[in-house]
Amino acid sequence: MIRFDNITYQYENALSPALADVSLEIQDGEFIAIVGHNGSGKSTLAKHINGLLLPSKGSVTVNGMDTKVEDNLLKIRQIVGMAFQNPDNQLVTTIVEEDVAFGPENLGVTPSEIRQRVDEALHAVGMTDYAEFAVHHLSGGQKQRIAIAGILALKPQVLVLDEASAMLDPSGRAELLSTVKQLHDQGMTVLMVTQYMDETVDCDRIVVMKGGKIVLTGTPSEVFQHTDILLQSNLVPPEAVAVRDSLKAMGYPLSDRALNAEQLSEELCPLL
Ligand SMILES: Nc1ncnc2c1ncn2[C@@H]1O[C@H](COP(=O)(O)OP(=O)(O)O)[C@@H](O)[C@H]1O
Ligand SMILES: [Mg+2]
Repeated sequence: MIRFDNITYQYENALSPALADVSLEIQDGEFIAIVGHNGSGKSTLAKHINGLLLPSKGSVTVNGMDTKVEDNLLKIRQIVGMAFQNPDNQLVTTIVEEDVAFGPENLGVTPSEIRQRVDEALHAVGMTDYAEFAVHHLSGGQKQRIAIAGILALKPQVLVLDEASAMLDPSGRAELLSTVKQLHDQGMTVLMVTQYMDETVDCDRIVVMKGGKIVLTGTPSEVFQHTDILLQSNLVPPEAVAVRDSLKAMGYPLSDRALNAEQLSEELCPLL
């Protein structure tokens, strides 16, 4: 669905490229987490997906359409929806349902179709009861879910979240993550940039970036076996994985599949 072929990206005035010869293929329906320390190139990579940035070298294609071909950009941007860190910058009106309707209205969608899309989008993010609320009365997590509803109302096939949970409190983060997982369960392709390793344990694949390169990629259980590479990339594995590894070092026969507290306790309890 999305292909990065040997892309390099150089910001003007920067000494070294922000992305250096990155290749990555994302399948339809996949849930990918992109992790990496500040400045490793995650946002630069995300911005290439819908042509906000164009590669200095190499190519990015979405459903076979090259982002460098200007005629493709409108179509690509209908396929790929992007959510960013600060929900306040993404909400444009004062009432929840008006905000969700804003995008489709600008596309000239008919009023009855807009009504249906708004209802569906609010339902998808679990915010139906808030349709007539004032946006400024919502919590950060709720605002971010409304921002995502606004994207869903445009009917994208791919959702890109660039540290969308970074400004949220733990409960807001949990709400957002469960919304994203549900969307993925319903078939949405999701690419989630996050600083929080514990948010990545249920995704299909983790991509670890460092210094503009992909240094590791695999399923969560594969990636979390490489604590050395993670630590070299300034990333701390989820707490449950650290505890698991300490217990393994003490001789407990635990599998690499235990990635969160629940899975770990399921394996550990029979041993105790
Ligand atoms: N607009 C910009 N101009 C120059 N350099 C930039 C710009 N944006 C990011 N960079 C640099 O590109 C590299 C990658 O940044 P970024 O993609 O934002 O990383 P991340 O999202 O992983 O924190 C960093 O070295 C950063 O300083
Ligand atoms: Mg970033």
